[in-house]
Amino acid sequence: MELIYKFIHLVGVMALFSALGTAIAASCDNAKKFAGILHGISLILILISGFGMMARLGYGYVQGWVITKIVLWLFLGASLALVKRKVMKPSALLGIVLLVGALSAYMGVMKPF
Ligand code: HEM
Repeated sequence: MELIYKFIHLVGVMALFSALGTAIAASCDNAKKFAGILHGISLILILISGFGMMARLGYGYVQGWVITKIVLWLFLGASLALVKRKVMKPSALLGIVLLVGALSAYMGVMKPF
């Protein structure tokens, strides 16, 4: 039960910071540069710490939840290109990106396979 609370808590944190990031970027002169730099730094931090935990905790790459997280991370990396190409409504894209973030958190918390 506490794992479900942990998962909901994390999704809430992601959504809160998405809202704050959107509002702060909207108030800044160069929102695209701001978003691009933060996107790159956060992806690198997630990847380095993810591989660090894998090494320290002795997990292999063959676990489904680890492979799924790496694929979702790649999608989140590519998603900035989807923003730039305006492939869909911004609210729809934010919803998809948050769902992918929620799925990544689910994989880390629950390790379903
Ligand atoms: C947006 C991407 C990601 C999100 C939101 C995310 C989220 C999480 C969360 C919530 C946990 C559970 C922490 C806990 O229960 O204390 C976790 C653990 C972990 N994640 Fe990620 N993660 C992401 C990407 C990655 C990537 C790319 C890798 C691998 C390269 C990775 C490897 C791990 C490992 C090894 C753990 C440790 C699990 C454990 O404590 O037993 N994660 N992650």
